[in-house]
Amino acid sequence: MSNCSFPHLIDLNNYPVSAWDRITDLAIDIKRNPRIYIGACSGRIMATLFYEPSTRTQMSFQAAMLRLGGGIIGFDNPNNSSVAKGESIKDTAKIVSSYSDIVVMRHFLEGASKAAALTSDCPIVNAGDGGHLHPTQTLTDLLTLKAEKGTLSGLTVGFCGDLKNGRTVHSLLKALSCYENNKFVFISTEELKVPDYIKDIVRAAGKRYSEINNLEDAIPELDMLYMTRIQQERFSSAEEYQKQKHVFCLDEKKMQLAKKDMIVMHPLPRVDEIAVSVDGDPRALYFKQANYGMYVRMSLVLSVLYENIDAKPLIVGREYPNVCCRNPKCISNHETSLPHIFRENNGVLECEYCDGRQISN
Ligand code: NCD
Repeated sequence: MSNCSFPHLIDLNNYPVSAWDRITDLAIDIKRNPRIYIGACSGRIMATLFYEPSTRTQMSFQAAMLRLGGGIIGFDNPNNSSVAKGESIKDTAKIVSSYSDIVVMRHFLEGASKAAALTSDCPIVNAGDGGHLHPTQTLTDLLTLKAEKGTLSGLTVGFCGDLKNGRTVHSLLKALSCYENNKFVFISTEELKVPDYIKDIVRAAGKRYSEINNLEDAIPELDMLYMTRIQQERFSSAEEYQKQKHVFCLDEKKMQLAKKDMIVMHPLPRVDEIAVSVDGDPRALYFKQANYGMYVRMSLVLSVLYENIDAKPLIVGREYPNVCCRNPKCISNHETSLPHIFRENNGVLECEYCDGRQISN
């Protein structure tokens, strides 16, 4: 059923922490000595399949491959591909992976890249699957923290904004929970809190977190503030979004309450959650962070293509033909030919595609 022979990057936690460290260290070397890596991917092809809008992720992957001397194919508008004729992810992945050495995929449905990996003939990299995960943004974030704070441990990190739908938040929280002595402050409205399954992972890793709805009160203790946009496209109605937008805004006044060495990160794009006047503050690192993203993707491509990454198996669960995932945004509810795969965790079934918890029928 599953093709486990490739180091697919669907969830960063499928790679050992030692691999994250190697990838971020190599990225630092590439940034310092870019000439050494010119031509390292000569003759290799990356496919970028973007079913959802992207600027940084798509272009930084493409720039990464071009800087390594490789080529790129793909689409950023699925309506110009056979997707518009009704082709499934399974079939698109099968075909495109036979033309390329690595496939980078972003999709609006949760678990889409894992579904693609089931039939792919080359490694799949998840470039964002709905509101679920975004592992390569997390590599970018880890590199930024490592390079700018000098550590990934012992940090008090604030996450502010749409913590429910923000896939970058989910992936980064899972990753930072693997390092020692980190603690987290979740700053959001009641409606946009961190999902329970992510909180359980944080708690199981022995990390502390608090939840608050006020940025001013949270900011003085933070070493890093991770701002996020309200994910308009994930709301079920315009009214719901209207209620949530403009709630949090980081401005110069709030920056005055922060530590002198606190850093501000943001996966971008920014809407209005950081005032433009903050951009000149030396603690505002979001543009630099986006630049680190290209180097970490160069490093990732090299690692996936040439290193032996000890990735965990793609699938640990098994098929439950009569159980349907309860998450309407899960790929398994849209591509009917996909096997229904669940794993058991403390007596509860979890969907292998979207991690959603189920009640069996
Ligand atoms: C993020 C994403 O796509 O999830 N952007 C990115 O990849 N840098 C964040 C967002 O869209 O808000």
